[in-house]
Parts: sequence; structure tokens; C-alpha cells
Amino acid sequence: MIRVCIFLALLSISFADNVKFKDCGSVVGKINSVDVNPCPTEPCQLKKNTNVTISMDFLPNSNSATFKTVVHGIIGGVPVPFPTANGDVNPPVPIQQNQKITYTNAIFVEPAYPKISLVVKWEIQDSTGKDFACFVVPAMIVG
Ligand SMILES: *[C@@H]1O[C@H](CO)[C@@H](O)[C@H](O)[C@H]1NC(C)=O
Repeated sequence: MIRVCIFLALLSISFADNVKFKDCGSVVGKINSVDVNPCPTEPCQLKKNTNVTISMDFLPNSNSATFKTVVHGIIGGVPVPFPTANGDVNPPVPIQQNQKITYTNAIFVEPAYPKISLVVKWEIQDSTGKDFACFVVPAMIVG
């Protein structure tokens, strides 16, 4: 019984932050999953003065010597560039076709950001600017 409870608890933890995302044009790859941590309820509440971690599994279907992370907050339809905490530290390059990639990065929610709803658009681009992965998740900035 205890074992079952522990198993269920682990299960709920590991799936708690797997968010619903919309693909926004992963032309040279396929996204398997996106995690936002913490994000216990959707839309994800991005708390000011905290780091929010993004993890994603994706499968590239072309090779690239480099990659680039591009993040925007879409506010009222207008994309605003969003800095990431870790820049382009991972995944390891070169990126190879059909090798699953687990990508992790974070954003720091600046205290100065306004409390608004937005859509986070996250792109991983290859060396020619094509998206290995592009997803959007609805979010809101909270105090
Ligand atoms: C957020 O992450 C950065 C970089 O890893 C770190 O320096 C900073 O202390 C973190 N801030 C908080 C509030 O956890």
C-alpha cells in the first residue's frame, strides 16, 4: 500500500509540470514534450523574482553545427524579446539528425515586468535560422 502511494506520488510529481503546448513551426524537428517548472496550473504563472525552468525533448530531423535559442513574450500580439538565463549552454553541438535532445534553460522573471498575460514563444533555431523546435505556451506574470 505504501509502495503504491509512493509510486502515485512520484507519478504526479513527474507529470505535474508537463504543459500543453502548441507547435509554432518546428520545420526541422519534432517536439515530444515541454515542461515548465514550476507550473502546477495552466496558464503558467511566472512569479516575479524567480527562475522558471523550461525543459523540452525534441528530435531534430537535420544536422546543424550550431543552434540558437530565441525567446519572445507575445504581449497583445506584439513579440517582445525575452532574455534567457543560460543563453545557449545546451544542447551539445553539433546537432545530429534523429538524435533525441533534452534541452533545458531558464528565464528569470524580472521584478520590473508588468503583471500581464502573455504567450511565451520559444524557438531553437539551426545555423540557418530554421526552427528545430518552436512552441508557444500561455502564461501570466504574477507578483
Ligand atoms: C536564478 O538563476 C540565476 C542563474 O542561475 C542565479 O544566479 C539566481 O540566483 C537565481 N535567482 C533566484 C531568485 O533563484
